[in-house]
Amino acid sequence: MTPQKKITAPQISSYKRKGRKIVMITAYDATFARLVDEAGVDMVLVGDSLGMVIQGHDTTIPVTLDDVVYHCRAVARGLTRAHLTGDMPFMSYKVSQEQALEAAARVLQEGRAESVKVEGGAEIADTISRLVGAGIPVVGHVGLTPQSIHALGGFKLQGKNAVDRARIIQDARAVADAGAFCIVLEGMPLELAQAITAEVAVPTIGIGAGPHCDGQVLVSYDMLGLNEGFSPRFLKKYAELGATIREAVKAYSDEVREGAFPAAEHSVSAFESPDGASVIYGIQTEKPTTH
Ligand code: KIV
Repeated sequence: MTPQKKITAPQISSYKRKGRKIVMITAYDATFARLVDEAGVDMVLVGDSLGMVIQGHDTTIPVTLDDVVYHCRAVARGLTRAHLTGDMPFMSYKVSQEQALEAAARVLQEGRAESVKVEGGAEIADTISRLVGAGIPVVGHVGLTPQSIHALGGFKLQGKNAVDRARIIQDARAVADAGAFCIVLEGMPLELAQAITAEVAVPTIGIGAGPHCDGQVLVSYDMLGLNEGFSPRFLKKYAELGATIREAVKAYSDEVREGAFPAAEHSVSAFESPDGASVIYGIQTEKPTTH
């Protein structure tokens, strides 16, 4: 098989000029990464949403740099084509620029990500410039920034008044000017996302930000119906895997209890291949003992 070429940060930036919409989705392990890669997405984000959908926390704040590095490494093994972005977790890049450089270096070096994402606007523009100057592609993230949940007072729509809207536009401008190659716009009115998309030269990737962005990102567990209690207006569920998994595991449980599984076709007899070694799970086992 010919090895596929990975999608790069400059290619993603160029999609805006070409009028090509960008598709981003989150993944947290190699199996999901392989599936979304095969489905043809452009970007895979190891989001700090892993704190909520994988670890079961109420917010993204408990996620550590080690967690992000661990999940990036797993996801990287599943990707052949899609660009891999690792989320910089809470307070891993806001203490100092040196701290940000060291943390981002781990996400690229140990996690095998090809870019990092940081939440914030004008206040982190210098940090973004520093990362970009060090050769680390950066994805910005403005609007509803979940790492600031306690300051924002909840997962609330941002930009509801003119002052906030002006500040968010300034933030997006600052992040783009600092060198981010694309910007996530989260939780804002569609008109604001449209204005930012028209204003900045780099692509915008929306979530809860309406149809006018240059691309879209969704949390895989949400759009696949695995995070069943979560149904905000912006979310479209493309599958109901929660129900599918429950049904499959219930059928398995019933069959085990009834003695219907495993059946003869799932079992190996010692007399089937007396001279050959058996291969199960792709691992060569010892020759079966014959009696
Ligand atoms: O953590 C995450 O998954 C994100 C996306 C929702 C953009 O930041």
